Amino acid sequence: MQVSDKDKLQAIPAYYLLQDYEATAATHRWEDVEKQFSWFHTGEVNIAYEAIDRHAESSRKNKVALYYDDGDRKETYTFYDMKCKTNQVANVLQDKTTLVKGDRLFIYMPRQPELYFTLLGALKLGVIVGPLFEAFMEGAVYDRLDDSDAKVLVTTPSLLKRVPLDRLPKLETVFLVGDDIEETDSVYHLTRQMSQASEQFNITWVAREDGMLLHYTSGSTGAPKGVLHVHNAMIQQYQSAQWVLDLQEQDIYWCTADPGWVTGTAYGIFGPWLNGVTTLVVGGRFSPQNWYQALASYHVTVWYSAPTAFRMLMGAGEMVKDYDLSSLRHVLSVGEPLNPEVIRWGIETLGHRIHDTWWMTETGAHMICNYPSMAIKPGSMGKPLPGIYATIVDDQGNEVKPYTMGNLAIRKGWPAMMRAIWGNQERYDAYFLQGEWYVSGDSAYQDEDGYFWFQGRVDDVIMTAGERVGPFEVESKLLEHPDVLEAGVIGKPDPVRGEIIKAFIALREGVAPSEQLITDIQNFVKTGLAAHAAPREIEFKDKLPKTRSGKIMRRVLKAWELDLPTGDLSTMED
Ligand code: WTA
Repeated sequence: MQVSDKDKLQAIPAYYLLQDYEATAATHRWEDVEKQFSWFHTGEVNIAYEAIDRHAESSRKNKVALYYDDGDRKETYTFYDMKCKTNQVANVLQDKTTLVKGDRLFIYMPRQPELYFTLLGALKLGVIVGPLFEAFMEGAVYDRLDDSDAKVLVTTPSLLKRVPLDRLPKLETVFLVGDDIEETDSVYHLTRQMSQASEQFNITWVAREDGMLLHYTSGSTGAPKGVLHVHNAMIQQYQSAQWVLDLQEQDIYWCTADPGWVTGTAYGIFGPWLNGVTTLVVGGRFSPQNWYQALASYHVTVWYSAPTAFRMLMGAGEMVKDYDLSSLRHVLSVGEPLNPEVIRWGIETLGHRIHDTWWMTETGAHMICNYPSMAIKPGSMGKPLPGIYATIVDDQGNEVKPYTMGNLAIRKGWPAMMRAIWGNQERYDAYFLQGEWYVSGDSAYQDEDGYFWFQGRVDDVIMTAGERVGPFEVESKLLEHPDVLEAGVIGKPDPVRGEIIKAFIALREGVAPSEQLITDIQNFVKTGLAAHAAPREIEFKDKLPKTRSGKIMRRVLKAWELDLPTGDLSTMED
């Protein structure tokens, strides 16, 4: 089945920014995009300048950059306001810390304007920023700050309680956002300091290849990895915001992702602001009412969210009729497979085809997408972004024929590609096959029209409610529980969340399984790692399937769970 604008909705408006996909894909050169940036003319590079100051110094000076709304705080900042605020942050950091270009600063706070001021302000100093999701607990926070030798942390008084300062000797300075803050010579009140700082700042110019963001993400083994992105990512973030998000001058754009995830930076900050487009940030927790209300009252035109959220809105049923969503003109999704059923819901209730986009923390920007001017095949991720070569390879790196399932791979060297795994060259190199292909870890096939179809992860990484969770991290946390002897963690298919986390646990000698123990173990992970990493289901087993070398065989656990054949068991211990 193909659904095109022509069949289902109005004729394709002539103003889509990517009008002819095939022609653009055939001729696109990234070098041509560089001319859009001021550094192409001045030689002075900094993504924060391109995202904020460039507009503040133009006719967009008084245009709204940021609407913020969390129910209590409702604030509006123009591009000029954003320039002043980010300059103040940069001045404070310069005065009160020893930060220099390339040092790491972490931001650990809920979505609120100060998060955005801080992220861009720190970039103006040439610092590498690590954004942390507010739901992380002590273990997750510690791993990231420690791995990257973070010097500065910007957080809130309540989240600071989860930061084990005594175990982080490299951390020199903390800035707090909130009330009742006592300043010392290493703890400062960020907004108080900002109010005393100058609104002028001389930006630290960097090289295009200098570090910008450090996003930690999960693999199937080992601790979370620090994916390093560089200022050069702006080229692809800027261009894809036009071709994929179709962002235009008059748009009011809302990306629902938190900057703790790559979508919340690449397309919650840079994509729109590099293009000078007004962005809405909604604080607080998800609720169908709040979200529909936000769409309606801010007259959102372009909306980027995720399948789990769409499925939850579907579950909220008729309520959507109470809201006027007529300003919407383009709706997109990322993070997990977008079910055809959700696309049908979108057409029926929002009046829009939801456009699926595929990319990863490591890719730094869109890779395979559905473009507004292109027919959608529901269930397909779409076609490669012009300028990107995506394909399917076998395990040796040979490209395969259409309809053959294999490894989804990208030819190395696109503008937004990660440049390192922090402090771990080996883990970085492991992504690349034959020196040519970036191998995603997803399996997929391509059809005869060049559309890609997602099939699953090749490894054991779990995608739950759009969040990427490494089973190893959860297993490690479970093993810290005094009653747990062995733990194996898998993703179990779930109609709303895509997958949920299920743990198989062997208990220590003499410990009796009970409902209370299940709750206790769940809370242990919730409070030690993060709520979204806690297993929703726990099953106790006397023994877990292991290889002779002692590795838990998650694929056997999964086969048990799903009633599938267990496959080759020759490496399993007796
Ligand atoms: C999955 C999120 C199916 C995939 C930007 C990928 C998807 C992982 C899609 C990356 C999609 C992302 N359809 N699966 N449209 N988009 N994924 O790093 O398994 O949090 O490898 O990046 O999410 O997750 P990450």
